[in-house]
Amino acid sequence: MVGVTKIKYSGNSRRTMAQQEDRRMNTLTKMALGLIGQLKPTPLEFDSSKSIRLPAPIMVGGMPLMQALAARQSQREFQVAVLPHQSLSDLLWAAGGVNRAELGGRTAPSAMNAQEVEVYAALATGLYRYEPTAHVLHLVAAADVRRVTGYQDFVDTAPLDLVYVADHGRMKMIPASHRESYASIAAGAMAQNVYLYCASAGLATVMRAWFDRAALGQSMGLDADQQILLTQTVGIPKASACA
Ligand SMILES: Cc1cc2nc3c(=O)[nH]c(=O)nc-3n(C[C@H](O)[C@H](O)[C@H](O)COP(=O)(O)O)c2cc1C
Repeated sequence: MVGVTKIKYSGNSRRTMAQQEDRRMNTLTKMALGLIGQLKPTPLEFDSSKSIRLPAPIMVGGMPLMQALAARQSQREFQVAVLPHQSLSDLLWAAGGVNRAELGGRTAPSAMNAQEVEVYAALATGLYRYEPTAHVLHLVAAADVRRVTGYQDFVDTAPLDLVYVADHGRMKMIPASHRESYASIAAGAMAQNVYLYCASAGLATVMRAWFDRAALGQSMGLDADQQILLTQTVGIPKASACA
């Protein structure tokens, strides 16, 4: 497996993997809690870093593109082990990083180059917003929001759930009736970049649209201009349970 090592965040390291998996909430419970407005993030037992300065993405190597396309797939079984910062860096750059600094160009297209889709990273240590220019993660909520990113139980304990959020404030030059579909298309392109990175790096991923939009929006503290489009889980595949 390329680029994956086992690192544990302090807060989770006291629990065994089995204990962490026991903390998953099943789908029916999530749906019931959502109906009464009680699907909430898990409080943290430790302090979150205000920001995570990511190492520079490694833009060379990896699997040849045609092999990555041949390997691309959705996977839904993840180890609880956290991702190394290098993997986090590489996959966030793949999702929406700057690839042409002189133009501020990104790795994924956007209509009229509006760059309206922001990527949030729900980690065990907090919810962070990816800032592509500085290639840094900024803390948005000091809570474990992973559980709220989807009705499926694996999202609770997989190490990373990405949330793609459209900022409608950046799409003023696009007709209002087209904004949601254009942003969704851009988010799909970003998510596919992550799929291909994961295929290349031996990571598991699945993009997801089945989540409680109200609960997640509230947990993230989004404003009226922001719309959640898509979520995506990433982690080390269970099958490769570390040799
Ligand atoms: C818009 C969209 C929404 C999806 N939502 C979910 C979801 O909520 N949960 C899930 O497990 N998979 C979800 N998927 C993944 C699909 O189930 C998956 O892509 C499909 O079964 C084909 O499998 P493959 O990706 O391995 O080719 C979604 C895919 C798309 C494109």
